[in-house]
Amino acid sequence: MIDIAFGRMELPKSGALALLLGEDEALTGLAATLDTALDGGLTRALAAAAFKGKRGESAVLLAPGAGFDRVVAIGIGKSDELTPHHAEAAGAKAVAALMKDVTATIAGDGLPATTLAHAALGARLRTYRFDKYRTTLKDEQKPKLTGLTILSDDAAAARTSFAPLAALAAGVELTRDLVSEPANILNPEEMADRAKALKSLGVKVEIFDQRDLEKLGFGALLGVAMGSACEPRMVVMQWLGASEPEVAGKAGKKSKVTPKDPVVFVGKGVTFDTGGISIKPAAGMEDMKWDMAGAGTVIGLMAALAGRKARVDVVGLVGLVENMPSGTAQRPGDIVTSASGQTIEVLNTDAEGRLVLADLLWYAQDRFEPRFMVNLATLTGAIIVALGHENAGLFANNDELADRLIEAGKTTGEGLWRMPLGEAYDKQIDCDIADMKNISGSRAGGSIVAAQFLQRFVNKTPWAHLDIAGMAWATKEGTIAPKGATGYGVRLLDRLVADHYEQ
Ligand code: BES
Ligand code: MN
Ligand code: ZN
Repeated sequence: MIDIAFGRMELPKSGALALLLGEDEALTGLAATLDTALDGGLTRALAAAAFKGKRGESAVLLAPGAGFDRVVAIGIGKSDELTPHHAEAAGAKAVAALMKDVTATIAGDGLPATTLAHAALGARLRTYRFDKYRTTLKDEQKPKLTGLTILSDDAAAARTSFAPLAALAAGVELTRDLVSEPANILNPEEMADRAKALKSLGVKVEIFDQRDLEKLGFGALLGVAMGSACEPRMVVMQWLGASEPEVAGKAGKKSKVTPKDPVVFVGKGVTFDTGGISIKPAAGMEDMKWDMAGAGTVIGLMAALAGRKARVDVVGLVGLVENMPSGTAQRPGDIVTSASGQTIEVLNTDAEGRLVLADLLWYAQDRFEPRFMVNLATLTGAIIVALGHENAGLFANNDELADRLIEAGKTTGEGLWRMPLGEAYDKQIDCDIADMKNISGSRAGGSIVAAQFLQRFVNKTPWAHLDIAGMAWATKEGTIAPKGATGYGVRLLDRLVADHYEQ
């Protein structure tokens, strides 16, 4: 993680500097001072590069003089169209161009403190790395950048508005760390332990082991876990920032309060998905280490909300299992009884995420009577066929919740696209010898059928399901993420909570 500091608008003496410049605007303030110091060199270089300041544009000046190693101009477009996410993208772009320098400065003349705080967030998220297993990295392979200073007309205000964003960044980083870990390290027990660490932020954490889950009648989840040498876990995390802010903020204090009208997030945490007895092909199976991304997102989100002391009661639940084939594994055709009492014929052991979520969603609505519940899951390959890697699939039984999620997606740049639900799809999982089967008889509309299955466990609660199979991992670098685990969903749901559910 790079160190981020905020400072006064003052031309640094040397080093690397990124300037955030608006579209078709004359150089003012710091940029004008620099231009003078360079004898008009900045103006000439920008003209030579045909730099107009459009969003996404950039120009690099190497050793331009006046002691600078590198000056980078980053276009931010028209200032009245600048969203927080655009600012993050600009900060990320700046820092990507400055990675070869040890310390760097980003300046944006006349930009509001909040814009610069979001630029700082983008910069921090863009420099994320998962290097813990690279023991032979040479110095020249490592990024040099360790410190970043953001210059603002009001450094104090920028610093203040960055504080909650730093907590948000820590949440995204936690999610990325969890998703990046291989499955031999991050099994259900280890993942539960990592969630337990949120206690230090004042989150109440309960861990349910195999016996606890048996007592709760979680037959659907337990069926998935049967083939693995690792025991399953469920983790329930509570942040009582509305009903008990004094206690919630303190590590180790016992809370006796139950959350009031909490918002609830539920995550699929299959730490590895081989498919079970309905085994997957070998090619690409390694990707299934990130089949716990839904759970990883919920844990990172709880860290973000607690870290910034959000004024809301929120509960996060994650179902952690490993889906393995073995002599003790569940067989195709097995019938299990879910916590809701409904029975399920498991026709395909690879449609396991919905089985895990069935018990968690039922338990969540039954115990917490949520204002709404949103679940996240890498649920179907079919959602990647439908939406690619640009949008998560959104399914909801409630238009208000769906609209709010879509709006939050626009502000954070984390896209989602609403997909349909309906009786005709639901019928496809009716079953002759149990209450339902876990797959339909065809591949058609696979993501929708999966969502219908989940809906049978949510009762009347306003609910949304995000199928993030195409979003959790990227094979190429994104705007504010290097390639690998993206942390998709943490910023989206933090925004949803901040915009509509905090006191
Ligand atoms: N974890 C997978 C879905 C998945 C596939 C996520 C590819 C990311 C990339 C899920 O458990 C699964 O195997 N789904 C099956 C469902 C099918 C058996 C109805 C699928 O999508 O093939
Ligand atoms: Mn599967
Ligand atoms: Zn899966």
